[in-house]
Amino acid sequence: MSFFKEEDLRNGSVRLSDDGQAVVIIDQTKLPNETAFLTLKKKEEFYDAIKVLAVRGAPAIGICAAYAMYVLSLPKKDLPYEAFASEMLADAEYVNSSRPTAVNLSWAIRRQMQVIRDHAGEKTEEIVGLLRDEAVAIHKEDIEMCGRISENGLSLIKPGDGILTHCNAGPLATSKYGTAIGPMLLGKERGIDFKVFADETRPLLQGARLTSYELEKAGVDVTLICDNMASMVMKNGWVNACFVGCDRIAANGDFANKIGTSGVAILAKHYGIPFYTLGPTSTIDMSTPTGADIKIEERNPYEIKTMWYEKPMALPETKCFNPSFDVTDHELLTAIVTDRGIVYPPFDVNLRKLFEN
Ligand code: MRU
Repeated sequence: MSFFKEEDLRNGSVRLSDDGQAVVIIDQTKLPNETAFLTLKKKEEFYDAIKVLAVRGAPAIGICAAYAMYVLSLPKKDLPYEAFASEMLADAEYVNSSRPTAVNLSWAIRRQMQVIRDHAGEKTEEIVGLLRDEAVAIHKEDIEMCGRISENGLSLIKPGDGILTHCNAGPLATSKYGTAIGPMLLGKERGIDFKVFADETRPLLQGARLTSYELEKAGVDVTLICDNMASMVMKNGWVNACFVGCDRIAANGDFANKIGTSGVAILAKHYGIPFYTLGPTSTIDMSTPTGADIKIEERNPYEIKTMWYEKPMALPETKCFNPSFDVTDHELLTAIVTDRGIVYPPFDVNLRKLFEN
């Protein structure tokens, strides 16, 4: 079954502009109060949009980076191949340095650089066209992958179940359906209802601002909770499964996701609730052996102390630790739900098989 529809390329949070000269994104920093769009053309604009989380979520960052490589190649289309390739490499390294944890960023950029290398010595104008094709292919693949992940995730839950999610792994973070909240959106389309608990996700509130927004708009029953309420909701027996996204899955099944995810996994284990991460195969990084090898982004203390408040909520001299992600140990994971199927332990063996097949 194909999930891809041509109009989906126009409906996600990232798309090519009508004249094909720029990337248009929904500015996720403005949601839910304002639906604003940003048009990106220069490498600094791509870097900043990724850095400030105007575009965010591992797959959406990958799609944006893929289109960015095409847009950045446009003014270079008359250069000889060697100069073209070396300027593209410099742009690629710059955009790639915007955020370190989500592997989809480097994965998409590597795919585009491979297109350039595969056509060494050919006319640059034609390579520019191939970069556009590859970006569209990456975008289409993501829509297909999200559809299959949502289908596989839906097979794990029953009508009426309570699902707890953390951060935002919906359409804004990907393309169509999303990953961790895809099963609920696909279920809704088929008349199946779930009760979703969305952690607000401190400090940047992706759960409050984006997940509850997407689910409300889709008519899914969603209840917003502060991160420190997850234990009580689980203890009350309201949660049948936890579904979270991922930014990088290591070869042994450890995975990085939004800060606070590992705490949810520990609580789920305590209460005997199945805990799943849902992600496309582009988020699995077999070259990263374990979670200890994943670089974790640290962000500005301003996000904790000041960003959402009229006045700072701590003294200027108070130190802050603001890691954007944490690593969940594979032993806490019930299964990894991918577009190629549901992977159960032992993850080191079964993830390898996923790629061999
Ligand atoms: O810092 P963010 O908002 O980009 O973090 C996003 C997450 O942690 C998501 O859960 C992850 O990227 C999966 S999105 C399908």
